[in-house]
Amino acid sequence: MDPVRNPYQPGAGRRPPELAGRDAELDAFAILLQRYELGVGERGRVLYGLRGVGKTVLLNEFQAMAEERRWVTAKVEAAAGRSILPTLAQALHRSLRSATGRFERGKLLGLLQVFRAFSLRMDPDGSYTFGFDVQVASGQADTGDPAVDLPELFAAIGATMRDLGVGALLLIDEMQDVPVAELRAINTAVHEMGQGADPLPLVVVGAGLPSLPEVLAKATSYAERLYEYVPVGALDQASAHEALVVPAEALGVTWEPDALGRVDQFSHGYPYLIQTGGKYAWDYAATSPITAEDADAGLVQARREVDAGLYRARWQRATPLQRQIMRAMADLSADEPTSMAHVAEVLGRERNELSVPRDQLIKKGLVYAPDRGLIAFTVPGMADYARRQPD
Ligand SMILES: Nc1ncnc2c1ncn2[C@@H]1O[C@H](COP(=O)(O)OP(=O)(O)O)[C@@H](O)[C@H]1O
Ligand SMILES: [Mg+2]
Repeated sequence: MDPVRNPYQPGAGRRPPELAGRDAELDAFAILLQRYELGVGERGRVLYGLRGVGKTVLLNEFQAMAEERRWVTAKVEAAAGRSILPTLAQALHRSLRSATGRFERGKLLGLLQVFRAFSLRMDPDGSYTFGFDVQVASGQADTGDPAVDLPELFAAIGATMRDLGVGALLLIDEMQDVPVAELRAINTAVHEMGQGADPLPLVVVGAGLPSLPEVLAKATSYAERLYEYVPVGALDQASAHEALVVPAEALGVTWEPDALGRVDQFSHGYPYLIQTGGKYAWDYAATSPITAEDADAGLVQARREVDAGLYRARWQRATPLQRQIMRAMADLSADEPTSMAHVAEVLGRERNELSVPRDQLIKKGLVYAPDRGLIAFTVPGMADYARRQPD
């Protein structure tokens, strides 16, 4: 079929042509926004799940929903070993600048002054102007210590937003990579805002790997109560089919049931794999409907792309011993969690010999510990890839 009109969108954060199976999450978030506007408030959200399930796409959708309601929003993506504060200052700056276009300047001025104090500390080389004179606030958010400055900045944002009848939404992607001191400061700030009789309308929504709830709990003991934890997983079969069928039908193309079944076997319902499978089956098919043969041929290509784009780089980042661990995990229980004790047994090693490489695999984001003594892959299908690698 015409590749130019191919509707599928494999790739990190790419908006899918049909956002399937996420109505519950979207509806709940629409309610959250409206509750804050009424001054009721509720806990922020933490989305967690494997790579390629659609967490970033959901964050982007949440951001668009909030912006439609004239909220001030800022989205940052954390990266291991790096502070998020300069990025936060940049994202907030963009959003506050645009807010000056739609709200009365006088009502924003106090907040802009606090923001300038914050940004001068967090990103001294940055340029944070607003097109009109904004003094730098003194005595607020200007210590350079995030544990002090973030709660003060958040409080100033929340108070101003309440005054304006909107809210602020802070989105943090790859939140497991935020340095722990900054996580603690964020949690403190969120905690303090929710303390009063009417909570300030600044909502934090984070997204990250399955390890994220535990990372947050380690940062602050009360993190469990601060956020609502939302697991994001594979789509059920009906939603997976919708993701493929709806965009095709809009272009006058249908899928044969057997062809959908082939993509199911390839994707196991993982959105990234659905998009990749859909894309190559479409390109291979000469005419509508897309048949099982088209899907089979397309999926050979899809497999190649996923190997190159998702698995290979991760595999290459691992040392030989780390690869042996992953290979043993794959042989023992495929994509399901494996006990480290079994891995050690299979490799003929003592468990404590494996604790360093195991920790490094976790740091590299290749595996995570779903529970004490267990490990599992963070990327769906990694087990199959590991099994196909030469020894
Ligand atoms: N609900 C969905 N339905 C169909 N495709 C989706 C859905 N959510 C995400 N995708 C697709 O899955 C891929 C991965 O999405 P992304 O948000 O980057 O995942 P994550 O952030 O969890 O790694 C993208 O190609 C995106 O278009
Ligand atoms: Mg993502």
